[in-house]
Amino acid sequence: MAVSKTTLRADRASGPGAPRMSRRARTILTVVHVVSSVGWLGLMLCLLTLGVTALLSDDGTTVRTAYRGMNMLGDTLIIPIALLALVTGLWLALGTRWGLFRYYWVLTKFWLTLAAAAASVFELRARLHEAVHLVNEHPTGPVSDLHLGSLRGTLVVAPTVALVIYLTNVTLSVVKPWGRRDKAGTA
Ligand code: HEM
Repeated sequence: MAVSKTTLRADRASGPGAPRMSRRARTILTVVHVVSSVGWLGLMLCLLTLGVTALLSDDGTTVRTAYRGMNMLGDTLIIPIALLALVTGLWLALGTRWGLFRYYWVLTKFWLTLAAAAASVFELRARLHEAVHLVNEHPTGPVSDLHLGSLRGTLVVAPTVALVIYLTNVTLSVVKPWGRRDKAGTA
């Protein structure tokens, strides 16, 4: 991967903002951070696939199976993956010269991830529980019996938004745009 001018400056800077972790620790943390963020991608692609399947299907059994699968994935993976991406990102920022408040791209990633994590942990999981509750109330019969209403659309929109945030974060991590917030040095 090409090393940007911004990366070199953050690596070479010296003084009070010196890094607080060894190169080895930083490498390990970056690997865990990237793996957790790729996990986010995989999870949201799976949720989107099942959500679209449930939205487009007229078959009650397919819709029930899709929402049960989504709920299983959501209950098992959303909290650990969202927290791991957030915590390792924060750790990388605070433990290196990137800092949390020094560069616009880092702060933007932080707010985007925090918003996406909170929305996924609280809102998306609540909607998944609601969908499973509805399909369990009517374990047989046609889709119209399930009274899912706008929930079917919501369960496609939510993973789509999470994927857009993921792509934005990856782009920010690689491009590192906009320079420093404090103008003390130009990126
Ligand atoms: C879904 C959320 C996130 C995704 C998809 C993501 C993605 C990535 C990727 C792919 C890299 C590797 C870039 C490279 O090696 O060139 C990276 C590095 C990094 N990320 Fe994240 N990240 C996320 C959340 C966060 C958060 C919340 C923060 C900070 C608050 C953060 C801060 C950083 C920092 C400081 C680096 C190190 C950059 C470097 O040293 O080159 N990330 N991130």
